[in-house]
Amino acid sequence: MSDAIKYRMGTTITEHLLQSEDEFPAATGQFTQLLNELITGAKLISREINKAGLLADLLGLTGEINVQGEKVRKLDEFADHVFIWRMQRSGLLCALSSEENEGVIRVPDNLPRGNYVIIFDPLDGSSNIDANVSIGTIFSIYRRIEGVPCGTVENFLRRGSEQVAAGYFLYGSSTMLVYTVGNGVHGFTLDPSVGEFLLSHPHIRMPEQGKIYSVNEANSMYWDERTRAVIDYFKSGRTHLGKPYTSRYIGSMVADFHRNLMYGGIYMYPGDSGKPSGKLRLLCEAAPMAFIAEQAGGAATDGRRRILDIKAGSLHERTPLFVGSRQDVEKATAIMQGHGL
Ligand code: AHG
Ligand code: MN
Ligand code: MN
Repeated sequence: MSDAIKYRMGTTITEHLLQSEDEFPAATGQFTQLLNELITGAKLISREINKAGLLADLLGLTGEINVQGEKVRKLDEFADHVFIWRMQRSGLLCALSSEENEGVIRVPDNLPRGNYVIIFDPLDGSSNIDANVSIGTIFSIYRRIEGVPCGTVENFLRRGSEQVAAGYFLYGSSTMLVYTVGNGVHGFTLDPSVGEFLLSHPHIRMPEQGKIYSVNEANSMYWDERTRAVIDYFKSGRTHLGKPYTSRYIGSMVADFHRNLMYGGIYMYPGDSGKPSGKLRLLCEAAPMAFIAEQAGGAATDGRRRILDIKAGSLHERTPLFVGSRQDVEKATAIMQGHGL
C-alpha cells in the first residue's frame, strides 16, 4: 500500500501512541490518556479560533495584565481556562503550570491526582490572534518527583532533559499536533471532517543546515556585538549557500519554529540590553521546543549552554534561545562564544 493511501486511511494519535507503548515505556496508558485530554482542549481552541473573526466577543483584550506584564487577550484567557479545566479533571496530573499564571496551579482536593506535571503556554503568538495569523499552544510534561508534594514548585524546576513528552499545536492553515516522547518527532493534522488528528508527518527530521533565519531584527540596536555578528553571518555570503539566508519572522514562535522544522533554519530570540535573558520562557517555551528540535536532529542553546541542560530556578525564568537546524545553531553558538566570526 502506498504511503498516500495509508495516510488517507488514517492513524489516530491514540493508535500511534499505543504502538509506541510496546517499544517505549514512557508511553503508558495513563500518558496516552493525558495526550488525549490535551487534544480535546486543542480541538476546542481550534474551534474558537476558526470562528473568532465572526464573533467579535472572541477578539481583543480582556483588560488584564498577566504575570509576564503582558496584555491578556480574550483567546489567551479562553485557552488557559480550557486547558486548566480539562487537565485538573483528568486525574492524571499532580499539578499544572501555565505561562498566564504566577504560581503552581493545584488540582483541587476533591479531584484525583496522577503522576505527571504539565507546563504549558496556552496561546503562543497571541499578538497575532486578531489578524488571523497562525498561533499555537506549547506543552511540556514531566513525571512528578516521588515524595515531593504536588503543590510545590520543585516538581517544575527541572532540567529540560527530564521531560517525558513535549509538543505543540499549531493553529495555522490547518491545525497540527507535533510531539515527541523521546522516540523521534511525529506530526498529526486535524481532519475537521472526521474530527481526529491523523498521522501526516511520521519521523520528522530537520535539515542539518537551513536556509531561513527568524529573529525580530528591530531589536538589533539593543544587541551586543556578538549577537549582531550572528545575524550578520546568516545575512552574508559566508553561509553554506554561498549567499544570505532568507529572513522569515511571524512573531509566533510555534509557527516560526514549525516552518523551520519543515524547511530547515534557525529561530533566535537573543538577550539584549533591555532584556538580558531575552523574552522567551525556559519552561513553557524554550525547553519543549529544544526537546522537539533535538529529537528531529536539530539543536537548541542559549548561546552558550544546551537548553535541555539548564535547570530552571523559577517557574517563569526567561532564556535567550537559538533553536533549529543543528549546524546553524552550532554556528550561532560558536559566534556567541567569540569563535568562528
Ligand atoms: P506569547 O504570545 O505566548 O506571549 O509568546 C510570544 C513570543 C513568541 O511566540 C514570539 O516569537 C515572540 O514572543 C515575539 O516577540 P516579539 O514581538 O518581541 O518579536
Ligand atoms: Mn509564547
Ligand atoms: Mn502565551
